[in-house]
Amino acid sequence: MYRQIVVLTGAGISAESGLRTFRDQDGLWEEHKIEDVATPEGYARDPEMVERFYNERWQQLHNGKIEPNAAHKALARLEQEFDGQLLVVTQNIDDLHERAGSRRLLHMHGELTKGRCPRSHQTFLLTDHFGVNHTCTCCIPAQRLRPHVVWFGEMPIGLDRIQHALDTCDLFIAIGTSGTVYPAAGFVDTANHHGAQTVEVNLVPADRHSQFQYHLQGKASEIVPQLVEQILAGEVIGEKPLSGAANV
Ligand code: OAD
Repeated sequence: MYRQIVVLTGAGISAESGLRTFRDQDGLWEEHKIEDVATPEGYARDPEMVERFYNERWQQLHNGKIEPNAAHKALARLEQEFDGQLLVVTQNIDDLHERAGSRRLLHMHGELTKGRCPRSHQTFLLTDHFGVNHTCTCCIPAQRLRPHVVWFGEMPIGLDRIQHALDTCDLFIAIGTSGTVYPAAGFVDTANHHGAQTVEVNLVPADRHSQFQYHLQGKASEIVPQLVEQILAGEVIGEKPLSGAANV
């Protein structure tokens, strides 16, 4: 039934893998100030503090306990088995989509596993924590790498490609995102405008201002595999109820 699908994921898809979200109870923004750790100004003021924040996240991602869950795996399966076009756009900086097998993937807010040269913007895979020893190999003198993370006030990555995919998609699914950070929060309006079906998966009930046509309330790990099953079977989302989901 569908030919072109765009999936937007947020911190909620990785929550069941053990990574904290930003705005839920116990979320990262309860403990850290955005202006300190997620702005260019905060980095200019205190690079070590910002590096510590991302190093903690990096360490957690590599502690051997964090693994992709059924939702990440289902999206990787969709990529392999779907006949049409699929683009997964993630706001997450973790690499759980890649570990699950996704390849047609765009990290619009950057990647925790990379550092970036502040002068050439070239990215380098991080094999270890950030620190003064992490410098680029593209400049003389070598520059200290900064986290390859899009901070508030900076331009997200790949917006042209995302815009094109949204303009032409017939299904847009947002999974585990609070829809508070733009431009990602506005993708649903673009997809609606172009006539796509728009579906949201979230643990909490739909916001009353939600622009999604269809809201599935429940755990991403339970709902996403069923959605993928329906899409691959050529069914229209919403025609059959899903188990574990409150369909609104
Ligand atoms: P948020 O922390 O704002 O929202 C997480 C969403 O996931 C919430 O709406 C939860 O209800 C939902 N959720 C939690 N567990 C879930 C589960 N198991 N299944 C389904 N849904 C679940 O995270 P994001 O929306 O991703 O940007 O935040 C967007 C951006 O804000 C981030 O990329 C980050 C942050 O500031 C930057 O740092 C630039």
